[in-house]
Amino acid sequence: MIKIIQGDITTLAVDAIVNAANQVMLGGGGVDGAIHDAAGDELYEACLKVPEVRPGVRCPTGEARITSGFKLPAKFVIHTVGPVYRDGLHGEPEKLAACYRNSLALAAENGCKSIAFPCISTGIYGYPKEDAAKIAVREVRKFLAAKNAKDAEEMEVIFCCFAERDAAVYEKLLS
Ligand code: APR
Repeated sequence: MIKIIQGDITTLAVDAIVNAANQVMLGGGGVDGAIHDAAGDELYEACLKVPEVRPGVRCPTGEARITSGFKLPAKFVIHTVGPVYRDGLHGEPEKLAACYRNSLALAAENGCKSIAFPCISTGIYGYPKEDAAKIAVREVRKFLAAKNAKDAEEMEVIFCCFAERDAAVYEKLLS
């Protein structure tokens, strides 16, 4: 099941919320800052413990890592790193699609029945909102169709949009 919610992702009592993180995974601005603020210092400590795959990189672009949610109502935080948008011709669509796929796979592996996504890459990283939303919807639909065919177990996927106009983009795509 797919739902759209307009609001602050840190308030959602779901199994997992997704963080639009950066490769270092130690916090930042935007939704990343909001999630770290709401989860408390333990989230920072947990992120520090995620092994670096190379210096300064805990999560390469397009991949995902999971931690506990600590003070958040959500049980887990799935950290994923969206692409920085240049012109759409430098692998950005594939990288963004991988964020959704890998986050969903990690959620399923950890027994999550509900997951909420922010609009990954569409803030500081500059991905055009509509293009990003199309990729998000396509990947989530693909994942749910494959999952339901396999085990018929419903997962609730929420697109959590901070801004009303972002929610409107998703409403249009899902109608
Ligand atoms: N809840 C839901 N969505 C939010 C929230 C919130 N509390 N705060 C911001 N957003 C939305 C923004 O409106 C935007 O649509 O999250 C979306 C993603 O924007 P950013 O947080 O800027 O993420 P991104 O574009 O992927 O850039 C990632 O920003 O904060 C840094 O460490 C992060 O370097 C990384 C970069």
